Amino acid sequence: MPRQYAITAEAIAEERKRVDDDLSQVDVSHIIALDELKLRDVGPHDVHLKILAVSAEHNVDHAALADTVNITDMRGGKIYPGNSAVGEVIGVGSSVGRFEIGDVVVTHCNGEPDDYGYPLRIWAYDQPDSVGWYGEEAVVGDWQIVHAPLECGLNLWEIAALPLRAPTAYHLWRRAMGIYRLKVSREQKAVVNVMGFGGGVSELFLMLARSEGHNAFFCSGSPERRAALEKLGIEGIDQGAYNRFAGRDDVKGFLKEVKKRTGGQGMHIVCDMLRGPVFAAGLAAQARQGVNVSAGWQLDTQVKYNSAGCSTKQITLDHTHYETPAGVASATELYGAVFKPTIHKEVYAFEDLPRAMHEMNKNLMTGIPIIRVAQQMPESVASLAV
Ligand SMILES: NC(=O)c1ccc[n+]([C@@H]2O[C@H](COP(=O)([O-])OP(=O)(O)OC[C@H]3O[C@@H](n4cnc5c(N)ncnc54)[C@H](OP(=O)(O)O)[C@@H]3O)[C@@H](O)[C@H]2O)c1
Repeated sequence: MPRQYAITAEAIAEERKRVDDDLSQVDVSHIIALDELKLRDVGPHDVHLKILAVSAEHNVDHAALADTVNITDMRGGKIYPGNSAVGEVIGVGSSVGRFEIGDVVVTHCNGEPDDYGYPLRIWAYDQPDSVGWYGEEAVVGDWQIVHAPLECGLNLWEIAALPLRAPTAYHLWRRAMGIYRLKVSREQKAVVNVMGFGGGVSELFLMLARSEGHNAFFCSGSPERRAALEKLGIEGIDQGAYNRFAGRDDVKGFLKEVKKRTGGQGMHIVCDMLRGPVFAAGLAAQARQGVNVSAGWQLDTQVKYNSAGCSTKQITLDHTHYETPAGVASATELYGAVFKPTIHKEVYAFEDLPRAMHEMNKNLMTGIPIIRVAQQMPESVASLAV
């Protein structure tokens, strides 16, 4: 049987007991463990995949911490996580026309689209009975995969960094810019100031902004990531210099720098996947008519803001959640041309996935964390897996 990582409610409870419910002390590698799983039979519209590489995703962290909801408990006590993967097609159902054996594909994690295509639930998280892709093999519906653009100029690890984060950034960007343009036309303001706070989704969001000619600013605590983005013309702002906005004076100092960098205008568009102290700083940095967009709540699920202040400055807060299947396909077209992700300095072995998750939780990453699952790569990607 293929090996597959699992999270159990017992493991979460045991680890929480060990640290006396202090989530800052949780070791995620104690919670996510190797298991085995018999895959479902391949149906007419299914595709059988050998998983080649995956990225460590933050919602697995949220599942292990049970900090948003205890999704493992809600789903019966055990989940098989992993909602971003690159795989090789090793079998196809009788009605599958778009894929054939040997194709290399990326997955998407829209678990169940609503009437407009937006996810009601996320695959391998809250979608009932969904089995994730932190495993050696998987069976997926053909609607859940997109051909991997192997000629896009990215290596396999860079491609593996994108299936979840790039569509999220793509959706955030098209929404943020769409809302901004409802208020301020291109004729009135062609080039806007766009800021994102540290993290993989934010860096991809800023690559979209930069590719369209806007001024982009990456406010991050990681010197490695800031340096990588500077090479793409995205200015770094050192979040560490402002103690990650721990106090009022930190925020004041940050606002002074924002004003200086933007000629007094502030940020027209802000991407904040973190909330917590980052939210207030991001909101205060907004220009009039600004848009603050988010799909994340890494530091807090709650935000507090002055409604009168937002009204008078005409600020819009918007919330998104992953992408539609059509948006995923569209975002995949931009791999390499726009999306050039930074990769963590170590590509982890499959057996080291729990350590990767732990190190991500402790914010030790110098880029997006990648796990190599397959030892033997297919000929079509052998030269990309370096
Ligand atoms: N709803 C959706 O569709 C969706 C999709 C993707 C992600 N998400 C969520 O969005 C969040 C970010 O995801 P991601 O993939 O971009 O994560 P990521 O690549 O792992 O980045 C997270 C970043 O958080 C920053 N950080 C860590 N601790 C911090 C602190 N105390 N204060 C300020 N910043 C801190 C770090 O940046 P620096 O050290 O560089 O500052 C780190 O790189 C997660 O909560 C994830 O679950 C939601």
